[in-house]
Amino acid sequence: MVSMSQAIEIQAVSKRYGQLQALDQVSFTVAPGEFFALLGPNGAGKTTLISAMAGLGRPDSGSIRIMGHDVQRDFRQARMALGVVPQELVFDPFLSVRETLRFQSGYFGLSGNDAWIDELLFKLGLSDKAHSNMRALSGGMKRRVMVAQALVHRPPVIVLDEPTAGVDVELRQSLWAFVQELNRAGHTIVLTTHYLEEAEALCSRIAMMKKGRLIALESKDKLLAHSARREVALKLSAALPAALAARVLREEEQRVVLELADLSELEGVLAALREAGVEVRELNVVEADLESVFVKMMNGGAA
Ligand SMILES: Nc1ncnc2c1ncn2[C@@H]1O[C@H](COP(=O)(O)OP(=O)(O)O)[C@@H](O)[C@H]1O
Ligand SMILES: [Mg+2]
Repeated sequence: MVSMSQAIEIQAVSKRYGQLQALDQVSFTVAPGEFFALLGPNGAGKTTLISAMAGLGRPDSGSIRIMGHDVQRDFRQARMALGVVPQELVFDPFLSVRETLRFQSGYFGLSGNDAWIDELLFKLGLSDKAHSNMRALSGGMKRRVMVAQALVHRPPVIVLDEPTAGVDVELRQSLWAFVQELNRAGHTIVLTTHYLEEAEALCSRIAMMKKGRLIALESKDKLLAHSARREVALKLSAALPAALAARVLREEEQRVVLELADLSELEGVLAALREAGVEVRELNVVEADLESVFVKMMNGGAA
């Protein structure tokens, strides 16, 4: 069955490398036009999942469709619909930038693609590097060529695998501006990163992977509301006033840990303590960490 309603449809995908379960029953969908973030620490399985989307590194089970095309059964059409900016810089050092992009066009059976190649070079600030050999480019410039390479066949779906790891601020910003422009033009974007700020700034929905599993998937707005949450650990001169009992998350050693929906609630807590004549001996505010926020939301059924 071909379902065209989703740009990406990942269904129960699993993959092992020997004893290691690199992907464990991963399922999610990305809608056309979405800007989607895939977050997770190193080793979470992000790159393995992206390889599977590109029809490489065949999964042990499960299926993936890109714009309705199954990546195994319908490899060419699925691959035509997808542009991948790889995490590793892979290039032929003896080709020039333009040759690299022509070669990639040939891979997709596109000849006479130079007008589009020129446009890509221009938009990515590579016009004056068209004749440079790949090996002569800086890391940041090579990264730009990887982006251009992913776009030679004008794919509707673009996946960027940690494109800003080790990239300078200027390139990071121009890259984001460019990717946002692509998104506004209707391209579906999937970005993997381990920077939450990046995901927050750009994406409308955020998924998190850990040890091969999808542990959370949430809209950015819900996530932000939850991540404003803080914990405050207090060491007090006397017992906690009853008025604050509902806030208690846990007690550890001589401290009591209270929950704040956001930092502005701290004032009310301190006022309640003052009123009850309880002195604060120590106070420590901790930001909610993303993973615990995610997991809590999942358990609470908010996702
Ligand atoms: N070709 C491979 N052979 C064996 N193990 C691999 C291979 N590729 C990735 N892995 C392992 O699979 C896990 C997921 O890796 P990866 O998909 O690269 O994670 P991420 O991109 O989230 O950092 C890691 O533990 C990694 O060491
Ligand atoms: Mg990776």
